[in-house]
Amino acid sequence: MKKLFRLVLVSSLSLMCFSCYYDELYIEEIPEIPEDQVVSFQNDIQPIFNESCIACHNASVANPDLREGNSYSAIVPEYVIAGDAENSEFYQKLPGNDHPIETGFTLSVNDIALIKGWIDQGAENN
Ligand code: HEC
Repeated sequence: MKKLFRLVLVSSLSLMCFSCYYDELYIEEIPEIPEDQVVSFQNDIQPIFNESCIACHNASVANPDLREGNSYSAIVPEYVIAGDAENSEFYQKLPGNDHPIETGFTLSVNDIALIKGWIDQGAENN
């Protein structure tokens, strides 16, 4: 019995360590967008929402509503601090970072880099 308890304890501790390690690793892997690359909300960001988010983030299931035409005003300024992705709730809660529910997927490192770059570049409606 004691052995079993120790086994469970050790496995849950190592699982915990593994998940912290994984989270940090993921964030560290996010590449910086080169300074001369302007990220466009219309051409780079909205397509990510269309593909991965609007099944839930629409007027009926979850907030914020990320459908085309509505998404920008739904997230700026409420969820986005222009120029500061790391402190923006939107960036912190992305699937892959700390999204409130399990979505069954994480965004690709590239998509997260684009969203981060767009916010850091001033979160313009461009
Ligand atoms: C499977 C459904 C689903 C998918 C797919 C999904 N989300 Fe969510 N998301 C939710 C739910 C449910 C919540 C909690 C909403 C609430 O509190 O109203 C949430 C919350 C959030 C929040 C925090 C909102 C708040 O007010 O705290 C953000 C930011 C967010 N999602 C971004 C995204 C982005 C960006 C994508 C696509 C890359 C995405 N989500 C994909 C269901 C989903």
